[in-house]
Amino acid sequence: MSLLDTARAVRENAYVPYSRFKVGAALRTPSGRIHAGCNVENAAYPEGTCAEAGAIAAMVAAGETRITELLVIADCPEPVPPCGGCRQKIAEFAAPDVPVTMCTTDGQTRVMTVAELLPGVFSAAHMDRG
Ligand code: THU
Repeated sequence: MSLLDTARAVRENAYVPYSRFKVGAALRTPSGRIHAGCNVENAAYPEGTCAEAGAIAAMVAAGETRITELLVIADCPEPVPPCGGCRQKIAEFAAPDVPVTMCTTDGQTRVMTVAELLPGVFSAAHMDRG
C-alpha cells in the first residue's frame, strides 16, 4: 500500500470525539516499511496525541528510528500542516531534506521538506559543549 492509501485508511480510526477532526499519517523508513498513526484525543484535552506522533511511536516500537518520507492527511480547506510540536518530533528522526507531503481528503497536496517546515530546529547538537 502507498503512503497515501495507508494514511487515508488509518485516518478512519482517529479517535476525535472533541474536535471531530480526523487526521491520518504514514511514514516510510529506509527498510521500506510503512508505519501509520491517527490522532487520539482525550477528555483531558492536552493529553491528546497527533497522528504524526502516533506514526512515529509505531515506527520506534517496531525497532526503526529513521524517516525517509512522511505524509499527513485531513479533511481540510488546504493541505493539513503538521503542528509545531510534530515538526520537532519529525525532525528528531528525519534529515532536513526529507519530504513531508500534506494532503486534503479531496486530493490537494503540498510538499515541503523538514527544513522548510522547521527552520532553526533545536537538535541534540545544541546540547554538545565538547
Ligand atoms: N492534529 C493532528 O493529528 N495532526 C496535525 O498535523 C494537526 C492537528 C490533530 C490534533 C487534534 O486531535 C486535532 O487534530 C485538532 O487539533
